[in-house]
Amino acid sequence: MNTPLTLFFPILFLKSTLCTIKLQEQFSWSVLDYEYTDDIERTKAIATKRFVPENNLPVGIEVWNEKLFVTVPRWRVGVPSTLNYIPLDQAKGAKSPLLIPYPNWDFNEFGNCENGLTTVYRIKADACDRLWVLDTGTFGIGNTTQNPCPYALNIFDLTTNKRLRRYELRPEDTNPNTFIANIAVDLGRTCEDAFAYLSDELGYGLIVYSWEENKSWRFTHGFFMPDPLAGDFNIGGLNFQWDTEGVFGLALSPLLATGERVLYFSPLASNREFAVSTRVLRNSSKVGDSYHDFVALAERGPDSHVTAKVMSEDGVQLFNLIDRNAIGCWNSRTSYEPANIGIVDFDETELLFPSDIKIDRYGYVWVMSDRMSNFLLSQLDFNDVNFRIFVAPFGVLVSGTVCDAKTAQFVI
Ligand SMILES: *[C@@H]1O[C@H](CO)[C@@H](O)[C@H](O)[C@H]1NC(C)=O
Ligand SMILES: *[C@@H]1O[C@H](CO)[C@@H](O)[C@H](O)[C@H]1NC(C)=O
Ligand SMILES: *[C@@H]1O[C@H](CO)[C@@H](O)[C@H](O)[C@H]1NC(C)=O
Repeated sequence: MNTPLTLFFPILFLKSTLCTIKLQEQFSWSVLDYEYTDDIERTKAIATKRFVPENNLPVGIEVWNEKLFVTVPRWRVGVPSTLNYIPLDQAKGAKSPLLIPYPNWDFNEFGNCENGLTTVYRIKADACDRLWVLDTGTFGIGNTTQNPCPYALNIFDLTTNKRLRRYELRPEDTNPNTFIANIAVDLGRTCEDAFAYLSDELGYGLIVYSWEENKSWRFTHGFFMPDPLAGDFNIGGLNFQWDTEGVFGLALSPLLATGERVLYFSPLASNREFAVSTRVLRNSSKVGDSYHDFVALAERGPDSHVTAKVMSEDGVQLFNLIDRNAIGCWNSRTSYEPANIGIVDFDETELLFPSDIKIDRYGYVWVMSDRMSNFLLSQLDFNDVNFRIFVAPFGVLVSGTVCDAKTAQFVI
């Protein structure tokens, strides 16, 4: 159970300079496929359009022990299962493994609000072996979005694969523009002391859920809004405007001596980073009384839109730089400014739209790229490789960058 992943995958660092150097590609797909009980089931699913392979785009990943989770939102018809995994211990040597619905097929039934998952974007496993899954309940994307089910947090016990809890967001937690795309989980000193933070990208809010109290509340702040000067994107040969996209990427610092963490966040249409203490977020009385508790950090520089970020236990943040086909880093012991922001790896083809990044409990960094903007605004070439999952040891990834503790210029 606690086998380090090195036993599953020998990691080699001799590669051509034409592709990512430190990130090692573990899996790649032209088109996704799922593990059906047999070929007849799969053929039937295709014939009835319950499975339309070209409509399946993976967006989120998470790693827990030998499971690599992959989420697939129901943006178009024919996504048979939204929460899935790849068993790393069995997938050894498989280049394009089949996705297995988690915890099973029944639980991924579209429109089954109480006991199914309709659309899952990003997920988070915690140190207490729980998987936090936000079901947006939506079908479609952009102006075609329908909401057959309400937003609901589903929390699974990863050791038993049973759902521990389902919590529907209160009507006050959302608004007609709400679109929640990311989640961070803040664990205190015990497993009961847990909070989830959900970023409302289009409704411009941050929703807090307390596990212990089984309650939620919603913060609003100007820092959740898009920057009107940062809404233009050039990715994968396409120019487009995502200029209404607000708070998206979330990353929590390690526990500070004071018992709190720092939540770092950034709107998608923005090149800036913001921060707030979890002491503020955890206190529901702070809603409406916390304007000055939110802090604006410096800009990262031009073309540095971010949707996903994560922080290591020693305080180094890694994030996707979607306009640069790159993964960036920042060591939180240095000031947040362009000179202290590094690029750990990049590749125009392989890292075209890095869509999620996670660090597992063994210190391996996992990255998925999925050509999302081409999928949404143009179309993918299904003869080409479109989706990739990479892995690298954290230390290897940051070595030689400004984020490396050995070379960083620390501020006192
Ligand atoms: C929805 O958006 C697409 C492209 O963004 C546009 O072509 C279409 O007309 C829109 N439909 C509605 C009903 O607004
Ligand atoms: C949490 O609250 C919801 C209603 O808001 C309720 O349906 C659910 O049973 C509660 N769960 C627990 C574990 O208390
Ligand atoms: C929560 O916030 C309120 C309002 O700012 C404050 O009066 C109270 O002391 C805070 N509670 C805790 C436990 O920090």
